[in-house]
Amino acid sequence: MNDRFMNTYKRTGLILEKGRGATLWDKSGKEYIDFTAGIGVNSLGHGNPALVKAIADQAAKLIHCSNYFLTDISVRLTEELCEAAGFDSAFFCNSGAEANEGLVKIARKYGSDKHPDKNKVVTLIHSFHGRTITMVTATGQDKFHKFFGPFTPGFSYVPANDITALDKALDDKTCAFLFEPIQGEGGVLPLDPDYLRQAQKLCRERDILFAADEVQTGVGRTGAFLACMKMGLEPDLLSLAKGLAGGVPIGAILARGACAGTLQPGDHGTTFGGNPLAAAAAHAVLGQIHKPSFYAEVERKGEKIRKAIRSWENPLVTQVRGMGLMIGAGLSIPPGEVVSACRERGLLVLTAGEDTVRLLPPLVISDTEIDQGLAILKDALAAVSDPARQ
Ligand SMILES: Cc1ncc(COP(=O)(O)O)c(C=O)c1O
Repeated sequence: MNDRFMNTYKRTGLILEKGRGATLWDKSGKEYIDFTAGIGVNSLGHGNPALVKAIADQAAKLIHCSNYFLTDISVRLTEELCEAAGFDSAFFCNSGAEANEGLVKIARKYGSDKHPDKNKVVTLIHSFHGRTITMVTATGQDKFHKFFGPFTPGFSYVPANDITALDKALDDKTCAFLFEPIQGEGGVLPLDPDYLRQAQKLCRERDILFAADEVQTGVGRTGAFLACMKMGLEPDLLSLAKGLAGGVPIGAILARGACAGTLQPGDHGTTFGGNPLAAAAAHAVLGQIHKPSFYAEVERKGEKIRKAIRSWENPLVTQVRGMGLMIGAGLSIPPGEVVSACRERGLLVLTAGEDTVRLLPPLVISDTEIDQGLAILKDALAAVSDPARQ
């Protein structure tokens, strides 16, 4: 390993070289089924011909110009994204954390227009919203709160699915409630849709912005364009990133109704955000995924994976959770050993929380790749649950 990298990641030692669909190859030519999609990013898999062509064509025309200029592709993307998600306005940036930062700025400006002290943001325990100082603050997990203080003031946390606690926390100084419909990094923990509908009602009654972080759940991952759509929710603000441009860095903030026009010139900006290259990639992604038949396939494939894992009745697996192709297998042990056993056998999987194996395959994964991946996962779980077989 190159020790000039800052030591921020526990790297696996794998050196990847190329990919096709949901299959990756390392430098030695060994093949891996990819149940990670670069942590939910490669929505169209690897080497998707239409995505590759869109990026190459746009690169030949215009890679970047500043946000002081429009391009046809950025206008088209903004229209189709607002249309697909049912929002009124969009702001493009480069990552999930940056999208959430901007979202909080909108909420605080919106709040300050009502009352100078209306700037508090309530988030949930076990949430994850990113790695900037303010998003580390927004994240409701103590392990992210070491070393980096002082933190941004004005954040508080409540337990998920506890409407009484939320009712108490949403006071007249609160400008926004920020939540993930399914807590991803926290352990693939779906929130109760009834709870979220009640939360939305409380927010509306108190003129508090109801804000969804769909950085991981958005753009088809759960078998709908947004997880909020599946749950019957209409947030005022929403953040996207990860899968939106299939691997080209992008983030987006979407706003609806009264807060759609909150930001004015000079309030916010970014150099790279939504440049023509990223916009062309996102346009290509939306062109392939935004169809009922595509979402139905995501749903079917996710259900197939969940059903298979349950059917093995492996003693290590305590629960199989998730929606669409965002899947968590809760284990009775820390997940590291299972992840390593999978990798040795040619399958890449992720962890989440303290005890969960997380699967986020490319949305275009084939049934053959699913079957290959499941066979490896089954074998890896059997090996870890019965060390005599290893
Ligand atoms: C729900 C959620 N929000 C925000 C982020 C941060 O996104 P990024 O790493 O692109 O800054 C993540 C990343 O995992 C996430 O899952």
